[in-house]
Amino acid sequence: MDLACLPGTQAPRVTIVGAGNVGSTLGQRIVEKNIADVVLLDIQAGRPQGLALDLMEARGVEHHDRVILGTDDYGDTQGSDVIVITAGLPRKPGMSRDDLLKINAQIIRDVTRKAIAQSPNAILMVVTNPLDVMAYLAWQASGLPPERVVGMAGVLDAARFETFIALELKVSISNVHAMVLGGHGDLMVPLPRYSTVSGIPITELMDEITIKRLVDRTRNGGAEIVSLMQAGSAYFAPASSAALMVESVLFDRARILPAAAYLQGQYHLSDIFIGVPTCLGRQGVAKVLELDLTADDQQALQTSAHAVRQNIATAQALLESSL
Ligand code: NAI
Ligand code: 2OP
Repeated sequence: MDLACLPGTQAPRVTIVGAGNVGSTLGQRIVEKNIADVVLLDIQAGRPQGLALDLMEARGVEHHDRVILGTDDYGDTQGSDVIVITAGLPRKPGMSRDDLLKINAQIIRDVTRKAIAQSPNAILMVVTNPLDVMAYLAWQASGLPPERVVGMAGVLDAARFETFIALELKVSISNVHAMVLGGHGDLMVPLPRYSTVSGIPITELMDEITIKRLVDRTRNGGAEIVSLMQAGSAYFAPASSAALMVESVLFDRARILPAAAYLQGQYHLSDIFIGVPTCLGRQGVAKVLELDLTADDQQALQTSAHAVRQNIATAQALLESSL
C-alpha cells in the first residue's frame, strides 16, 4: 500500500543565511509554526546540516510537516521566496567598530549576491548588525527594487518596549502595542504617544519619569542582554521578530510593523534605510506610513539618521579600500 500523500514542494521556501543563534532559532520558529520550508546555510562545515537534521527529528514530537535542509551550497537555496541574512561576525576583543563594520559589510555583500543569484524574485530581509547600514549595503549588492529589501529591528525594539510597559503596568502583553522608529541602536526613537494599552496612550497611564526609564531600557535592550550573557547576544526575541515579518510577507498579511525600509522623502529623509512603520506583504514593503511626529521626535529621528548615514559612508569607504 502506497501511503505517500504529502504535497511535495508546494510550501513556500525561506533561506536563512547564517545558521548561528538567530538563524537557527528563526529556522525553528518558521518550521514549527508551519510557515514555510527552510534552507539553513552557513560556512561552518557541518553546522547547518547538523542543526537541520536535529530540527527534522523534532518533527516526531512537534508534528509539523515543514522540511528544513542544512547546506553550504547556494544551489540548494534556489527559488526561495524570502532570504533572511543573519550571517556575520560578533565583535571580538581587540577588534575596532570599523574592523567589524568592514568584515560584516564584506560578508553581507558576498552572501547577498550569491543568494539573490539563486532566488532573483525573493524578498530580502536583513538581520545582521549594524542593521540599518547592512540593509543599505544588501540592497545595493542585490540590485533589487528597494521595496523588496527590509531590515529587522523595529519589531524587536517595539517588543522590548511592550514587554517593559506590560511589566510596569501589570497588564497582559496582548493589550500592549508600541512603536519605535529610527536606527537600531541607542539613538532609536521609541514613541510613547503611539504606544498604547488597549488603545490608551501610555502618556495617560504613566508619569514622564517612568516613561523615560522604560524608553531608556528599550534603547539599551540589546546591550542589557549582552552584559548579562557575557558572550553572545539576544536571539530568542530577534528570531520571533524576524519570523513575524516572514509570516506577514509570505501570507500577504499586510501587517503594519516597524522595520528598516528605504526612504524616498518620507520623514524628510532620502536614500537611507532606517526604522519606520511599514506595511509588509507579499511584495515586500508595500507602504511606509508617515506618523505625525512632535518636533522633538522628528529631531531625534534626524539625529539617528545622521548616525546611520555616517556609518553607511564609512562602510562604503572600507569596502572600496578592500577592492
Ligand atoms: P552568531 O555568531 O551566532 O551567528 C552568525 C553565523 O553567521 C555563524 O554561524 C557564522 O558561521 C555565520 N557566517 C559568518 N560568515 C558567513 C558567511 N560568509 N556565509 C554564511 N554564514 C556566515 O550570531 P547571532 O547571534 O546569530 O547574530 C547574527 C547577527 O544578527 C549579528 O550580526 C547580530 O548582531 C545580529 N542581530 C541583529 C538583531 C537585530 O535586531 N537586527 C538582533 C540580534 C542579532
Ligand atoms: C539586539 O538588539 C544585538 O541587535 C541585537 O539584541
